[in-house]
Amino acid sequence: MGTLTLTMLLLLLLLTSTSNGDAQRIPGLKKDDSCSCQVNSSVWVFPAMKFEGVLQLVQDCGDSLQNLQAQVKLSNERLPEIQATIENVTARLEPYQYLNDQGLYTALHLRQLVKGLRELEEDISSIHQDKPSDQTQKLTQEIGKVRKEVDKMHLSNTFNMKTVKEKLRSLKNGVESCRTIPEEFISKQGVCSQRIMSNISTPVITKISPYGKSYTSGSWGRQAKQVMEDQEGSGVFYWVQPLVSSHRLGNIVRRYRSYDDFMASKNHEDVSVAPSYSHANAIQGSGTVVYGEAVFYNCYFSPELCRYDLQTKVTTRLNIPDIGTNNKFPYCYYNCKDWTDTDFAADETGLWVIYSTLGNHGNLVLSRLDSEAFNVTHTWTTRLFKKSVTNAFMVCGILYATRYIDQFHEEVFYAFDTATGKDDNTLALPLEKIENGVASLSYNPIDRQLYMYNDGYLLSYQAIF
Ligand SMILES: *[C@@H]1O[C@H](CO)[C@@H](O)[C@H](O)[C@H]1NC(C)=O
Ligand SMILES: *[C@@H]1O[C@H](CO)[C@@H](O)[C@H](O)[C@H]1NC(C)=O
Ligand SMILES: *[C@@H]1O[C@H](CO)[C@@H](O)[C@H](O)[C@H]1NC(C)=O
Ligand SMILES: *[C@@H]1O[C@H](CO)[C@@H](O)[C@H](O)[C@H]1NC(C)=O
Repeated sequence: MGTLTLTMLLLLLLLTSTSNGDAQRIPGLKKDDSCSCQVNSSVWVFPAMKFEGVLQLVQDCGDSLQNLQAQVKLSNERLPEIQATIENVTARLEPYQYLNDQGLYTALHLRQLVKGLRELEEDISSIHQDKPSDQTQKLTQEIGKVRKEVDKMHLSNTFNMKTVKEKLRSLKNGVESCRTIPEEFISKQGVCSQRIMSNISTPVITKISPYGKSYTSGSWGRQAKQVMEDQEGSGVFYWVQPLVSSHRLGNIVRRYRSYDDFMASKNHEDVSVAPSYSHANAIQGSGTVVYGEAVFYNCYFSPELCRYDLQTKVTTRLNIPDIGTNNKFPYCYYNCKDWTDTDFAADETGLWVIYSTLGNHGNLVLSRLDSEAFNVTHTWTTRLFKKSVTNAFMVCGILYATRYIDQFHEEVFYAFDTATGKDDNTLALPLEKIENGVASLSYNPIDRQLYMYNDGYLLSYQAIF
């Protein structure tokens, strides 16, 4: 239609211009009363050729217009596609954006690094003054070396932040170790004279949870205590803590006064640590242990840690800055075990909590707690990514971590010694189980057994030294 209108318009213009054209003078001869003119017919001829030419032009123009329109249409269709590609590429470049701001990034981190270094220097020098030893001497020398490197960094713009950070981390661990463990512990002949586990027995106890197999998450064990020389295990109770509400919450700790009662699931006593499972002092997750006269656990929907005193029935809370919570850093295998961000542990040396922080890039962090004052006394940071392990526990001041092999096997593959601040990931101690999930795994220093909550099965193992 458009093309036709255009053609007619052009034709009209063409005719108009012709009629306005020059008048033609025709030469003629008078002959026998008549006038004969020789008409040069070409003058009158409708400019068919011209018209055709123009028409052809119009036609061509129409064709090219159509081509053009087709091209525009195609472009319009392709536009979202092109746009998506651009967006995709932009999205894929986003993670590298920081390279742009690297100047700022490193300067900021350098400042934090220098701050950390200064704190460390102060710590080491005060420990060295209190208790000078070979180790504090060595740490002082090492920190001097790091200081030189950091000073150099200020002068040049390119440096390996990662290497220095790693050195600082390892120095910090060295300082933590210097602060107590060696004296209390390495030199101690007795329960921990042979500190490193050499193997783990096949299951000693294998029992379905008294609550039934549908309670696939929770924790269980035997009341743990600081171990004295030749301490007997008498008087300590067995306990089971099942999680309800999508395997997440709980407020009951069921206890059995004897092994026989526990095995027969009879004569239990239910202790309520909170009035309901959605109370602020309720239990979230499977990191619970009973240590001394208190139950230690992750407080309901909170980063805070709770201590419920079995004697006074009083709950106290502890806040550890930057602690990962609410499934930020749970234990994982091929799936993550939800609500396992915070995991309490007990061993011969005391009470511990295993967790992770953003500051340590999701790697395991280990803090030693004063179980009575309920505060943190020491903290070590590891390079073991928390989400790559199924569970972790403490034995004789050494942190052990397990990994998933298959439904029936776990393996202890990693150890971190708080006495030296060093780790070892060459271990391969097998651990048999019945189901996939390991909700909790804790050591009891009195009977030297490991207690595993395995998808509704309660298992225990003898640690072998
Ligand atoms: C007719 O007119 C055309 C152009 O006006 C001219 O070229 C041609 O020679 C003429 N023919 C005769 C026979 O005069
Ligand atoms: C971007 O494109 C790639 C390859 O074409 C594709 O695998 C990816 O899923 C796309 N990403 C987004 C965010 O669309
Ligand atoms: C370790 O204990 C397992 C039982 O869990 C046993 O089969 C294996 O032989 C032991 N390994 C060594 C080296 O003693
Ligand atoms: C822990 O609490 C006790 C008692 O309140 C206090 O003496 C000690 O200094 C605290 N330790 C730390 C590291 O805050």
